[in-house]
Amino acid sequence: MLSAPWTLFNSFVIQQLVSVRRLIRNDWSDSEQDGNLNGLAEQYLGRGEQETWERLRGTASRRREWLLGRAVAKETLCDVLAGCTGHPPSPAEIEIVADQRGCPRVKALLVDDPQTASVVSISHVGGVFVAAACATPGLRGIGIDIEQVTRVNEDVMRFAFSASELQLLQGLPAGAQANWPARLWCAKEAAGKALGVGLFSGLRDIHVSSVNATANIVEVEARERTKEEPRLRLGPAESMVVHTSDDGGLAAAVCLWNTDAEKT
Ligand SMILES: CC(C)(COP(=O)(O)OP(=O)(O)OC[C@H]1O[C@@H](n2cnc3c(N)ncnc32)[C@H](O)[C@@H]1OP(=O)(O)O)[C@@H](O)C(=O)NCCC(=O)NCCS
Repeated sequence: MLSAPWTLFNSFVIQQLVSVRRLIRNDWSDSEQDGNLNGLAEQYLGRGEQETWERLRGTASRRREWLLGRAVAKETLCDVLAGCTGHPPSPAEIEIVADQRGCPRVKALLVDDPQTASVVSISHVGGVFVAAACATPGLRGIGIDIEQVTRVNEDVMRFAFSASELQLLQGLPAGAQANWPARLWCAKEAAGKALGVGLFSGLRDIHVSSVNATANIVEVEARERTKEEPRLRLGPAESMVVHTSDDGGLAAAVCLWNTDAEKT
């Protein structure tokens, strides 16, 4: 395995039947890219993904990022599908295809069973690769995001957060001030990914409505757009719970988008 369960989210994972994994090796150097990465592509990618990989343009580091993100995502999907079927599929039997907004969708499975319908999300920053997957029936999406705590500085906070979000941050205990701005940032991104829209029309469409620093939980709302400005196209405003954590200078968040009847 290239990745290991990310223990940061252990209690959440046990509760929710989610898999969250992090790449173990982060020393893929430029010189070994071609040979090693092509071998990895053969092992992990399905036929359609192989074609995407061969056509993928961009820098060597972007190609590596795309492939390693998918490899970790496949391992999370193998975890949750093994839980559903009792038989872990091989990574190449699962295909992850980006939809028109870039959201990774699980496309092809050998087991054609609605119980195994699954969702997946990927995040990478500075050589750290993580992914989250879940196969709970009725789940509409999952989002994971990581960010370096120091990157969410005062300048970023000014454009990323509304006045009420800044007030929530100011109200947190002194010890929590350092990493919570980055956690809130990740919470918004994770919610946008769970909805499949990313931060399509800016960070302020996804709004933090409450923070529970003791339980490490953030509540977010995706604001309904007006008819003149229907960029999110979500229908009624959505409210979601996001689990956040931090790990040695890295902030992280995971969000499930459930049907109304099954809200977390
Ligand atoms: C999608 C987005 C949330 C990605 O976040 P990021 O912090 O830049 O990068 P991360 O490494 O955390 O995530 C990247 C992964 O998100 C996933 N992703 C991309 N678009 C997505 C979407 N619409 N929904 C869910 N997941 C998405 C992809 O798997 C991508 O990895 P890959 O391309 O290697 O497969 C963000 O870039 C975005 O919304 N962009 C579109 C609009 C925009 O740029 N707005 C600027 C607002 S200030």
